[in-house]
Amino acid sequence: MYSNIKAAVMGSINMDIILSADRLPGVGENVLGSTYSYAHGGKGANQAIGLSRLGAKVQMIGKVGNDANGESLINNLKKNKVDTSGVATDGTSTGLAAILIDGDGRNRIIVYEGANSEIDPTLAEKNIPDDLGVLLVQFETKEDAVCAYVNEAVKKGITTVVDCGPAKSFNLEKMQGMTILSPNENETEALSGVFPSDEASALKASEILFLRSRARYIVLKLGERGCSLYDGKEIKFFAPYPAKVLDTTAAGDSFTAALALEYVRTGDIEKACDMGNKAGSVAVSRIGAENSMPTADEIIKM
Ligand code: RIB
Repeated sequence: MYSNIKAAVMGSINMDIILSADRLPGVGENVLGSTYSYAHGGKGANQAIGLSRLGAKVQMIGKVGNDANGESLINNLKKNKVDTSGVATDGTSTGLAAILIDGDGRNRIIVYEGANSEIDPTLAEKNIPDDLGVLLVQFETKEDAVCAYVNEAVKKGITTVVDCGPAKSFNLEKMQGMTILSPNENETEALSGVFPSDEASALKASEILFLRSRARYIVLKLGERGCSLYDGKEIKFFAPYPAKVLDTTAAGDSFTAALALEYVRTGDIEKACDMGNKAGSVAVSRIGAENSMPTADEIIKM
């Protein structure tokens, strides 16, 4: 379905350590966990694998350290058919994320940036080929790298999708005119000052983000409420697909990968939002990050 799309992701590559407990500890408290595991993650790498599982040709641009985690993460990207020639391996330690999951599948994540913070913004021109179909970026690398890559892709007329995770303030005025800007609820609040709790606040937040970024579309990921789409004129809401929620980690990454490819394939942003919702609902029903990314067949079967 997406095999003729050439995609690139500039973003983070992390080793995730995932710990589950019925209830997460408060300050100074120690609780017993039920499971733990290590997994390949990082918002950039998750999205690259998400795109690849859906069938696109994918190149990863990022940085890891010259250490065991970096080697394992690169091997895993290769195993998932992601071209890693754009991943530098001479960084300080590879990025690490500690992911705590509670009994309702909700997570809290602490990220050590490590090598992800050292991506060279001056390589953007060289690393973005003119014939690229779509570029995806997130906010888990430094702002200057994100802006350099987005501005270069926009200049070359390439479809550019900005996933605004994790939540932080960001100088959106430094990168303008991307195709899709897509924050989740917390990221929306961090960037617009408005939490999208209902239709009116989602519209208000989208209007602010539209003006700040000059994106063509603002797509808010609204968790169990699905997503919304704003095109500068009106806002529309897209209902989620039912799912038994085990772990919400990387549901946003899965959503963004499917949103991007369906938009490039069809040019229809509404179909793309629906596809994003389908991928997100598969992702929440599985534990882990990369493990959550569905194939095109799994989505079609829904
Ligand atoms: O979006 C999920 C990802 O966020 C995890 O894989 C973790 O690495 C953090 O970056």
